Formats: sequence, structure tokens, C-alpha cells
Amino acid sequence: MAAIKELYFCTGNRHKFNEVAEFFNGKLKVIQADIDVDEPRGESFEEIAKSCAKQAYKKLKKPVFVEDAGLAIPSLGGFPGTYSAWVFKKLGNDGILKLLEGKTGARLAAEFVSCIGFCDGKAIKTFNGICKGIIAPNCRGNAGFGYDPIFQPAGHNETFAELGSGKLAISHRSIAVGALQKYLRDY
Ligand code: IMP
Repeated sequence: MAAIKELYFCTGNRHKFNEVAEFFNGKLKVIQADIDVDEPRGESFEEIAKSCAKQAYKKLKKPVFVEDAGLAIPSLGGFPGTYSAWVFKKLGNDGILKLLEGKTGARLAAEFVSCIGFCDGKAIKTFNGICKGIIAPNCRGNAGFGYDPIFQPAGHNETFAELGSGKLAISHRSIAVGALQKYLRDY
């Protein structure tokens, strides 16, 4: 990693921050910036990430990245998608399980989406990561956060919450942050 030695990650979510810091493993110093930005509603992950990165840079005046993430269930039209945070607060994991009651096979397919928005005052770049899997029949595991107990990544019998630090090797977030890391190598 060349020019950039440290980078601000604008997030209020400590779990996200820890996962990203663990990913970089000291190769890049990631500093949490818990500053308020207005998340636009009803847009794509990419539009939200771009808008938040731009706002974060305006406040911080230093290279910064943000992440917009969420769970998408194709059999529910991509729900909760960009509304994942609101839905998690209102319905929680049990609510999602209820919506899928009686559904089997492909109708349980789900994916976690991560979009990183990076802004250095000159350009805004986005980096995407998707992790495909299924919604498990019930909550399992104690690690992680949010929807981790109900998401079972493809090729695994455990949920993200059961995989613990094993989540890092395959997650949507790791894929998106990996793309950011690659971009910063030639920065
Ligand atoms: P946001 O990116 O902070 O807006 O997150 C949207 C919602 O998705 C929140 O409720 C998070 O808890 C949830 N979420 C985002 N990433 C993950 C993840 O890696 N595991 C579990 N839930 C997540």
C-alpha cells in the first residue's frame, strides 16, 4: 500500500469498524470517524455510499470511506435492501424469519451487499461486495451483529454468527474492502 498510511472510516457501527480494521490487519491504519451524515432514502446502495462519502469528506477534509450494507432477499423483491437498518430495528431477525415461514429451496436465497464509498476531495469511488447464501430456518450463533444469526453463506453449514472470525474470509464487506485495498495500492 503506497501513499495512504491511514484512512478514516466514517461509521457509528463498531462491529463494522472492527471487521474492517481486522481485514487491513495493520497494513493500513483505519481510524473510526463517528460523524453524522444524512443517508438518502430509497436509493441504491451505491448512491447512498456516494452521497455519504461526499458528506463525510466535506466535514472531515481528509480521505475517508463509508460503507452502506444490507441484506437482500430476491423472493421478497430484494427486501429489506437499502431499508435493512430500519427493518432490523422494526422487525428484527424474527420478523424476517416470519416473512419467510413455509418457504423452501430457492425462495430462501439471500445475499448480503456491501458498497464502500471513498472520497479524497478529488474523486468519489465505489467498491462493491456481494456474499450469496440462504436465510437459515432459525437464529443460530452469538458472534457478529445484525442479520448475522440468520444468514448462512453458500458452501457453509454455519451462519455468519456461528462462523465468528471465519466471516472475514468470505463476507460482502471483505470483498468490498479488498477492492478498496487494491485501489489504494496504486493510489
Ligand atoms: P448500514 O449499512 O449501517 O445502513 O446497515 C444496514 C443494516 O444491515 C443494519 O441493520 C445492519 O445491522 C445490517 N448489516 C449490515 N452489514 C451486516 C453484516 O455484515 N452482518 C449483519 N448485518 C449487517
